Amino acid sequence: MTSLTGDAPVNGGAESMQRATITGWGLCVPPAVLTNSDLETVMDTSDEWIVSRTGIKERRITHTETSDMAAVAARRAMAAAGLEPEQVDLVLVATCSPDQLIPSTAAYVQAILGLGHAACLDVNAACTGFVYALSVANGMIATGVAKHALVIGAEKLTSLLDINDRSTAVLFGDGAGAVVVEAAQGDDGMLALNLGADGSLADALTVTGFATKELEVLENEYRLTMDGREIFRNAVVQMGDAAARAVADAGLTFDDIDLLIPHQANTRIIDATARRMNLPSEKVFVNIGSYGNTSAASIPIALAEALEAGRIKPHAKIVFVAFGGGLTWGAACMQWGERTTPIENSDADLSPTDQTGLELLARRQRERRLRQGAG
Ligand code: ACO
Repeated sequence: MTSLTGDAPVNGGAESMQRATITGWGLCVPPAVLTNSDLETVMDTSDEWIVSRTGIKERRITHTETSDMAAVAARRAMAAAGLEPEQVDLVLVATCSPDQLIPSTAAYVQAILGLGHAACLDVNAACTGFVYALSVANGMIATGVAKHALVIGAEKLTSLLDINDRSTAVLFGDGAGAVVVEAAQGDDGMLALNLGADGSLADALTVTGFATKELEVLENEYRLTMDGREIFRNAVVQMGDAAARAVADAGLTFDDIDLLIPHQANTRIIDATARRMNLPSEKVFVNIGSYGNTSAASIPIALAEALEAGRIKPHAKIVFVAFGGGLTWGAACMQWGERTTPIENSDADLSPTDQTGLELLARRQRERRLRQGAG
């Protein structure tokens, strides 16, 4: 197994190490739906523009915290893996919309689920966060540091949205997905991982006012800014390249791949990546229409839906690929195990709400103004 950034082996000698795999999966999407038609009532946009530029038809907006969605997805993943709370020794939450800066969202999840003293860590690689966190878990399993890891992608991105910025407000949604990672059997499991970043393009996607950086202009506090075209250009190249490197490092060709599960940011970017990999549409999982861009949560949500839909067969060869703020990118190539159905189903769920998507959006905008000190 290799884990490469550029051409430098990070995990040299890993052939003798324990291969990791995914044995449980679960998702949590909040019940309130915010449609493109809803957005038309609060900003100058149209369903036609959003669908044709991005493929997004609607997204979910949560009435809870990020950690609540993460905990529900994790509970479902643990049930699917048949894992007891005391067996979990590592909790990784990939998120760029944590409940707070300290503690980690992972620590909240540990407490909600009663996971004993499992190690807790958040991973922020923006939309690539899940693939990065998966590699961290893979390394910890391979080296025997952990035995059963929960890897969760969870986001409350609607808290970052500004309805006065239509170029970003239509893109993002809330949700969580989780997997259980543990030692693999036989030839199954993680075959290759490829991670990278280009910090010279860090300013192409920023959320300011969330941490300690000195503020020069108060108006810039707590603001998501994005150079959509720059990200688009880089995403198309880096997703294809990262996937190609991971597949080659796994000793495979694109023809061997049964299913591509890409980060769900934009159907045009997904289509370009699939073309680069020469994959027909039936080998690509796309659900962006229902959820928008849920950043680090998008791949584990898509994985859980792909399994539910019977799109993953025993021992299928799968590629996860993502890009995001940083700018970061990453791909993982794995061979799925024998089991494609959950050992148990969990009835864990979020607390109910009768608030509509538009009501929650208005609440989010009030919270935004409070954060900006505008009352
Ligand atoms: N509704 C209607 N019109 C709009 C909207 C909107 N919501 N947003 C922008 N427009 C207008 C613009 O004002 C512009 O109008 P003009 O030509 O009169 O100036 C026009 O539409 C075209 O705007 P562009 O920005 O050129 O549109 P583009 O085709 O580039 O699509 C998009 C924009 C969808 C954001 C695209 O660039 C994209 O998907 N980029 C990648 C973004 C992404 O995936 N980010 C993920 C990373 S997120 C993370 O890591 C957390």
